[in-house]
Amino acid sequence: MLRTDFSHCLNSLHLSDKPALFFDSGIGGLPYFRYFYERNSCDTIIYIADRGHFPYGSKTRAEIISILIELTNRVLKHVTPRVSVLACNTASVSALGALREAFPSIPWVGTVPAVKPAVLASKTRCVGVLGTDRTIEDPYIMELARQYGPDAKITGLAASDIVHFVEQGGEIAPEAEKERMVFPYIEQLRAAGADALVLGCTHFLLLLDTFRRLAAPDIGIYDSIEGVIRRVEKISKTAETVQKRRRAVLLLTGSAPIEPLWRKRAYAFGLDILLLDSLDSLYFSDKVFK
Ligand code: DGL
Repeated sequence: MLRTDFSHCLNSLHLSDKPALFFDSGIGGLPYFRYFYERNSCDTIIYIADRGHFPYGSKTRAEIISILIELTNRVLKHVTPRVSVLACNTASVSALGALREAFPSIPWVGTVPAVKPAVLASKTRCVGVLGTDRTIEDPYIMELARQYGPDAKITGLAASDIVHFVEQGGEIAPEAEKERMVFPYIEQLRAAGADALVLGCTHFLLLLDTFRRLAAPDIGIYDSIEGVIRRVEKISKTAETVQKRRRAVLLLTGSAPIEPLWRKRAYAFGLDILLLDSLDSLYFSDKVFK
């Protein structure tokens, strides 16, 4: 049975819980959420899928900053997070600094593309980075590469078609379809001589097995999930908060009704699901948090 009972969801968001917040434009951050949730059995977590603004990757830095500041302000009306995770490379590359400045009391954790381990491991000195248009065009990737592997050649490829494929349900598509999406990128990088590929967009983690299989044995796959969650855990442990039992809620932005695909995802990842709009209207009518 789907756990979508409204009052249960509202109870799940009690102000005193100081939840860990996870942000993404859609499904991309869910693997990060799951990794954390499985290892931290008594935490309260709110996962925000900014469906109303998907995709971030085709937006400008200024647009992404303004979207995330507004979204954070909305969420802060309901909860005081003990940590806030941008489980999205595009958001991290574009807005992490601005969010830290705008909300200095919240510990923010960003998702930095795993360029460092990839350039350190590469023997051919040729590393591929796959991300959204926004991430690939941002100088941040090249700065990271210069810092950790100045001699490495970076091939950055924007793969917004994979982002859309995943967001529309690609994670549960037949394997042949997943391969059709991923294969051209692997081939291009193989032809360029890459032996390391950085998954620089969290959506790609939903196709991790496909990436690994098609890239083997000559191209290693690198992502940032472990490093990000270790950082989140470090902050979570030091925060002054008493967690009684674990609860996890998925908040969807946008005014459209919750699609069956999102209900399935919430169920698969063990989350209750709720529209942020409905939470806002209840909040403002003063019925919820007395
Ligand atoms: N999941 C986001 C990332 O890691 C991108 C998806 C989008 O374009 O909205 O970059």
